[in-house]
Amino acid sequence: MISKPKGTVDLIKNDSVYYKYISDVFDAYCEKYNYKFIRTPIFEASELFHRGVGDSSDIVRKETYDFKDRGDRNITLRPEGTAGVVRSFIENKMYADIIQPVKLYYNGTMYRYERPQNGRLREFTQLGVEIFGSNDPLIDAEIISLPINIYNSLGIYNTIVKINSLGDNQSRENYKKALKEYIKPHLKNLCSDCNERYEKNPLRILDCKVDKDSDILKNAPKISEYLSNDSKKHLEKVLEYLDLLEINYKIDENLVRGLDYYTDTVFEIEVDSKELGASKVIGAGGRYNNLVSSLNGPDTPAVGFALGVDRLISILKLEEINIPVKKEIDTYIMYVNETEKEKAIYLNQLLRLNGYISEINSLNKNLKAQFKEADRYKAKYLIILNSEDFKKSLITIKDNTTKEEEKIKELDLVEYLDMHI
Ligand code: HAM
Repeated sequence: MISKPKGTVDLIKNDSVYYKYISDVFDAYCEKYNYKFIRTPIFEASELFHRGVGDSSDIVRKETYDFKDRGDRNITLRPEGTAGVVRSFIENKMYADIIQPVKLYYNGTMYRYERPQNGRLREFTQLGVEIFGSNDPLIDAEIISLPINIYNSLGIYNTIVKINSLGDNQSRENYKKALKEYIKPHLKNLCSDCNERYEKNPLRILDCKVDKDSDILKNAPKISEYLSNDSKKHLEKVLEYLDLLEINYKIDENLVRGLDYYTDTVFEIEVDSKELGASKVIGAGGRYNNLVSSLNGPDTPAVGFALGVDRLISILKLEEINIPVKKEIDTYIMYVNETEKEKAIYLNQLLRLNGYISEINSLNKNLKAQFKEADRYKAKYLIILNSEDFKKSLITIKDNTTKEEEKIKELDLVEYLDMHI
């Protein structure tokens, strides 16, 4: 037997029902928020992620699936959705669209060569949103309120938004300098990853998993002390609008995020659950006002978020949240001989085209077994075909709950169901 690769999942049975439900809710919300659907390739030129997500991020340093294609091109399976959407925004000149800001939503599988564990997969699905062209804090608040409204609608209420500002370029450069000066004498006491980060991306030292509880990091200078007036005002407004929208948040000054492109607002949404451990972060995002220009597009402010579907499925299961699932079918069509079978095939399509969930015996079962199968499907109505009835253009229909049965004109079947279901 060939098994699935490590860190991947088969979405089957209940999990696939949850998956579909989550993506349907997500799509419905994005449409209400007036976002447009976008699909970008699963693989892109490796350079996009090196320049986009960032050479110093753990994702690009250690986790990408890179390969050369048969034309000797360097290709990477996307580890996240933002860089591809930004590439598409620039390549398709969406910055010149009449309607601005450009608001896009997407879904898709992402690939990271992580150590597989609960909630951490090598292939996982993200649902995400990116907005281009507005630097208004109301858009930051919208990007945070959208996933919260989606979680609530799924029945997940115990969430908390952790939020921070990484400031604009100048604020961040000043802060990086101060942080490096502070960290320098302590470097020998920090882990090897932090020593590497010191040169390439000192901010990432702040959310090091190994050293996070050390006094060195606890006493480090805070980014809030280095924010420019504009960045301070931006954060204040985002928080004000979140209050207005009644979104719970907690400022977390050590939140810097694992991708290099963020500016100003960054956030992570956690679900309050002990069982989930590291995988309790069910969505995250932030502003990335420099990414479009650093990938050779025009200077364009942008903000976005993505949520992990696989983690949401685990939570819905763990908390035993019931979702509305259609467990029954509308009609089951029964027949015995070939003439009846042909009529059954025809009627089955007719009903499906008229919006009914209809099923038919395809295992050559006798009539008794077909009754049993109809019950297993929880069919609401049984359509029992009998070639004798055909001569008078009649068919027998049976309410499978009340067990009442009547003969109706074949031509009236759809109308009959429209009135009864
Ligand atoms: P991220 O924090 O890397 O951000 O991922 C977003 C979400 O994807 C996480 O909160 C988590 O739920 C899920 N996720 C990440 N890695 C895994 C994994 N290995 N297995 C299962 N689920 C995972 C981004 O990807 C950014 N592109 C978000 C963004 C959009 N920022 C701006 N726009």
